[in-house]
Amino acid sequence: MKILLGVGGGIAAYKAAELARLLMQREDRVRVVMTRAAEKFVQPLTFAALTGHKVLTDLFAIEDAIEHIAVAQENEVLVVAPATADLLAKFAHGLADDFLSTLYLAFTGPVVIAPAMNVNMWRHPATQANLAVLRARGQTIVEPESGYLACGMTGPGRLAEPETIARAVAEQGRLKQDLEGETVLITAGPTQEPLDPVRYISNRSSGKMGYALAEAAAARGARVVLVSGPVHLAPPRGVEVAWVRTAVEMREKVMEHLPAASIVIKAAAVADFHLSKVPPQKVKKTAARVSLELDPTPDILAELGRRKGDYLLIGFAAETENVQQEARRKLETKNCDMVVGNYVGGSETGFESDLNEVVLVLSTGETIPLERATKREIAGRIFDEALLLRLKLHAAHGR
Ligand code: PMT
Repeated sequence: MKILLGVGGGIAAYKAAELARLLMQREDRVRVVMTRAAEKFVQPLTFAALTGHKVLTDLFAIEDAIEHIAVAQENEVLVVAPATADLLAKFAHGLADDFLSTLYLAFTGPVVIAPAMNVNMWRHPATQANLAVLRARGQTIVEPESGYLACGMTGPGRLAEPETIARAVAEQGRLKQDLEGETVLITAGPTQEPLDPVRYISNRSSGKMGYALAEAAAARGARVVLVSGPVHLAPPRGVEVAWVRTAVEMREKVMEHLPAASIVIKAAAVADFHLSKVPPQKVKKTAARVSLELDPTPDILAELGRRKGDYLLIGFAAETENVQQEARRKLETKNCDMVVGNYVGGSETGFESDLNEVVLVLSTGETIPLERATKREIAGRIFDEALLLRLKLHAAHGR
């Protein structure tokens, strides 16, 4: 693989030399791009000697006028280590004022980002918001480790070990194209059920789990149709999005795209109840107590289970207790091939978090717990297990 290594200006820049050495041992070619600040910590000569290539630094050198475009096109993975808070902000907001930030915008392949900084800078809401943007864009973040930092403080912020970063880079090259030829239909996010023209009932779903699935499926070569409720996420690259608001609209879009689908995943948190007759005008506030009579929404997953064509059907179960038992119950009552059970009673996993911890319950009777990991990693494991499951089901039915 042809790798671009971007080095940011932090004390951890010295570790990037070890990373360059490791990548040189494993990959075809490594080209290094340094920011001006990085040059203050490590000499470009160090990287030139390790990689056998001139180090790219100056966007404005005459002979390099469009070199960032050529370099972006020639290489397969961009890894940035250490990524400073400044670089994360530039990448998140699309600023392009030096070789590395310009290259980042011109580069269309997978990006691996290994941040390193002071613990307070790492925890700052601005840094976390920038990271959320980059994660939502599908970029791999190699989390910093916790420990003693160069600034004298202790906590998260230390650059991950070069070996860990090199593994994350290698992972990009191994990206399987095992979903090529498939159409994966995914629902994500909440639904909003209006009570009048200005009020609605909804839930805490951010859409992150469903978007991670869409991104993973597209990266593995699938055509992806994402039926999305209202969320604040950028759609993953290459994914077709159908926007909906209510459970009824979600059902319509799912049924419209169903004939083409070979895998259907219902990660959306669909409201279970709605007002079937919504008042056309805003309901006036009175001193009197108000009660709502709600009707059940269409259960889309149950309908998909009843129709059960040639597609693999994967549901989710959001539970606050007995996750595995409830997931198995939903698998059976809704006739699914797999149900992904997740605990939604806390704040570290489930709704809104970038992490999840799930148990996969399969129609073969198997139960596969997956350790806590990013939603993107969990998404990858769901597809690994779904493809294996389909092989088993085909073998069992003699196909
Ligand atoms: O969006 P995030 O913030 O990343 O959070 C992710 C998540 C917690 C929302 C996700 O991982 C998840 O669990 N999604 C399913 C939430 C849910 O509605 O669970 P449920 O147990 O109420 O429903 C079971 C299944 O039936 C789900 O696949 C759901 O999509 C489906 N359903 C439910 C009601 C309905 N009317 N129609 C449906 O199709």
